[in-house]
Amino acid sequence: MKINERFLELKDSYLFAKVGQKTSEYKLKHPEKKVIRLSIGDVTRPLAPCVIKAMQKAVSDMSKKETFKGYGPDRFCYGYDALIDSIKGSYLKKGVKLESEEVFISDGAKSDLGNILDLFSEENTVLVPDPVYPVYVDTNVMGGRKIVYADATEKNGFLPMPDKKVKADIIYICSPNNPTGAAYTREQLKAWVEYALKENAVILYDAAYEYFIEDSALARSIFEVEGARECAIEFCSFSKTAGFTGVRCGYTIVPKELIRGGASLSRLWARRQSTKFNGVSYISQMGAAAVFTEEGEREIRENIAYYKKNAGTVARCLDKLNIFYTGGKNSPYLWLKCPRGMDSWEFFDYLLENANVVGTPGSGFGKNGDGFFRLTAFGDADETVEACERIERLLK
Ligand code: MLT
Repeated sequence: MKINERFLELKDSYLFAKVGQKTSEYKLKHPEKKVIRLSIGDVTRPLAPCVIKAMQKAVSDMSKKETFKGYGPDRFCYGYDALIDSIKGSYLKKGVKLESEEVFISDGAKSDLGNILDLFSEENTVLVPDPVYPVYVDTNVMGGRKIVYADATEKNGFLPMPDKKVKADIIYICSPNNPTGAAYTREQLKAWVEYALKENAVILYDAAYEYFIEDSALARSIFEVEGARECAIEFCSFSKTAGFTGVRCGYTIVPKELIRGGASLSRLWARRQSTKFNGVSYISQMGAAAVFTEEGEREIRENIAYYKKNAGTVARCLDKLNIFYTGGKNSPYLWLKCPRGMDSWEFFDYLLENANVVGTPGSGFGKNGDGFFRLTAFGDADETVEACERIERLLK
């Protein structure tokens, strides 16, 4: 019996697990301190009232024989029509027409971003930006694929563009980006689509933060770009949009035109999902469908505005301290340069010990993240103000 030894090549622990562990250790040593977490991008606002109402109705459906639901409909990999139609409707508003067979309901973007790799050979070369959401790198290390990096630095505004000299088969793009908060314009995405088509590559496009986009030049879906249906898969989530981190629901779009090695990737994905996945609960799906109603849209926009206000609070604090940062406008993340030449983990410890504020060290997202630090706007508003006051006192 042999284990998958590639797991041994991974760093000891997942970035957010290490941050969590260090925070717990500090709290155990100093139970009297009030520690404020602006680290993992986990939401703090309760679910929107219309989501709660829809979920309550779904629970009630489950209590009666006539309306009880077992497994979801296998026609569309266990996605209910009500949710699939709502998602199609939301894409139509962006000028993107989808068919029901192209919409796959998931339990969130993270699982699908990892699981999609089942469709691809180990021989593929993977291109990921650096810094990047650690899931893209770790899942490919587990799968034994060669990884090449596209440098995202201050010089290119943390938005690397395709390099003709680099050969890649699978390309990860996250926009608005986690961790840097930078977001691609449609023009920039067009260059990536052209590159992918030329390379016969597939773009895995993580759009988990698209609801935070306010600038109309920025793309909310890669399918706004011509040609993307032939080369891209898009991953979306209700986690950050509608506060579903504890509910779990997302969706993945695999267009019918996406053919590689003579096979339709949407067919392969349907085959994979029906074998290894039994769908998302009816209750979660009904809650998610409510997000797309007029009332739902208004309510989740209110929550997003709340988080954006937090982003403004952090941005003002960094401005006052003259600290370089990106993000915070079309994104819930602020990506800042560690002051006084500290490296990322040094600044993490310094902030935890002296301001009792927790952030995420940039180096955990890749080598180009060293010397940087990520703060999230997903915290409680009063706590965010308090954290900023403490940071200002410490660093001024
Ligand atoms: C983050 O903090 O980067 C996110 O919460 C991670 C995730 O969504 O899995």
